Parts: sequence; C-alpha cells; structure tokens
Amino acid sequence: MARIEPPVPLEGQVRIEQMAKWYGPVGEGVEALGGLNLDVPAGEFLAVVGASGCGKSTLLRILAGFEDHTDGQVEVGGAPVTGPSPRRGVVFQDYGLFPWLTVSENVRYGPRQRRVPRRRAKEIAARYIETVGLSRFADRFPGELSGGMQQRVAIARVLANEPALLLMDEPFGALDALTRTSMQHELKRIHAETSATVVFVTHSIEEAVYLADRVVVMTGGPSHGVPGRIEKIVDVDLGDHRDVNAPDFNAIERAISDLVHVGA
Ligand SMILES: Nc1ncnc2c1ncn2[C@@H]1O[C@H](COP(=O)(O)OP(=O)(O)OP(=O)(O)O)[C@@H](O)[C@H]1O
Ligand SMILES: [Mg+2]
Repeated sequence: MARIEPPVPLEGQVRIEQMAKWYGPVGEGVEALGGLNLDVPAGEFLAVVGASGCGKSTLLRILAGFEDHTDGQVEVGGAPVTGPSPRRGVVFQDYGLFPWLTVSENVRYGPRQRRVPRRRAKEIAARYIETVGLSRFADRFPGELSGGMQQRVAIARVLANEPALLLMDEPFGALDALTRTSMQHELKRIHAETSATVVFVTHSIEEAVYLADRVVVMTGGPSHGVPGRIEKIVDVDLGDHRDVNAPDFNAIERAISDLVHVGA
C-alpha cells in the first residue's frame, strides 16, 4: 500500500536555494556566499568544513535567523526564516551563559521565557542537565565549572528548548582533546535520542567524519576573490560505530581534506 506523505515538511528540515549573502550593498560590499543550494532532511547530522573565511559561520547565522540573506530562499520546516526562534537552538564556541545564574537557572531560562510553568521548567532543566552529566552541579555558578562543563551547560540550555534544528559553530573548538572526545560521544547520543536535525561547523575533518551523516565541504570566500560556496557534499557511509583509525575512515578524511584544499 502506498504511504501517504505528510503535507507539511518535518520541522527540522532545511532547504536553501540559490542563496547569496552580501555584507554591505550588493555589488559594492562583500559577497560572503553565492549560489548556495542545500537540502538537509529532518533528523540528519550534517557537518560543515572549509578553510577560514569561506562562510561557515555566515551560513549558520542565516539559518539561526541572526542575519538576513540577500538573495534566494532559506527555509526551515517549510517556512522562510525571518528571525531567531527557540525551535532553532544555537551553540557557539563561547558558552554565553549568564554568570549570575546557577546551572539549573541558566537551563531553565529558555523554557521560562516561553512561559513554561516554573515547576515544569525545573523538571525540563533537571532532565537535560542529567543528559549532559552535570546533575551534581545544578546549583553551581558557571564560574565554578571547567570550560568543558560550561559548554555542556550551554548545550543543555539549548536542548531544554527541545529545538527541531540544532546549529553548532565549532562548539568544541576550545576544549582539550579528552573533553572534546567525551563531548562528541555525548552529542552522538543526544542526536540519537532526539529527532533534531544538527548542522555542525568544525575545523576538524576527523570530528566531522566521526559525527556526521554527510559532510559539506565549502570553498572560496571573499579573501579568495569569490563568494563562499559548496564544493561538494560527501556521504559518510560508516555506520554508527566509527573508528578514527580504520582505513575506510581515513580514506574519507583524506578525500575531504583534498577537497578543502582545492579552493584554499
Ligand atoms: N559582519 C561582517 N561584515 C563584513 N564582512 C563579514 C562580516 N562577517 C563575516 N564577513 C566576511 O564574510 C566571510 C565569511 O565569514 P565567516 O565568518 O562566515 O567565515 P568562516 O567560514 O566562519 O571562517 P572561520 O573558519 O574563520 O570561522 C569572510 O570573508 C568575512 O570577512
Ligand atoms: Mg566561523
């Protein structure tokens, strides 16, 4: 029997068509991105890599609704992006926590803003603080935690809004290698547990291949005299349990690395 497709696209689905982004006036300013096409199905884990200045953060900020695009279409869940939304959670490299609020209060902040009743917000916060393994630190202040712990709070805070789309810009870039590895495991688990779509920008090709279903390789950028663009999208057909030392893993890493350097 034929399946009837739902008429409304799933909430975390991303569609970008012929998108351009100018900083400053068109034709005079800087064309950061041009002719960008990208479809991300709901629930996918998509990594984005590319040399500095190719427009990765610009792309993420546009999806977050923090920045307008100049031309083309940008849709999330079938609707044009017109501004920020709690349904699209954003995690940057600097944690952006409120230092005067405890861990629990930081995580509760979003739900409370959305007028979730106090007791329910507390339950939601407790759940996500547990998810990131920080239950024992719920009543501490961010300044009392390590960088890796603060980043986990930042992730819990975004998850507490139960976003359909999780946008992460080098979220683990400032972490030491051990913390970074454990955060990668954590994020994989969280992604498997929620149905959120993830768009994850990283400078680490290894991290991209470890985490993602597909890796977008971007090239160009204003410092190369051309707008940033998508060079290629690489499928990572490695299943759920990935070994960073396995030959097939390394082959994909090398292929991506070659592509990154094409446009650099
Ligand atoms: N507010 C701005 N005004 C003018 N130009 C900008 C602005 N923000 C970014 N750019 C330019 O747009 C291009 C893309 O910047 P973006 O920050 O998106 O790059 P990126 O790929 O995230 O780089 P990195 O890997 O260094 O973080 C760069 O050439 C940058 O100089
Ligand atoms: Mg950036």
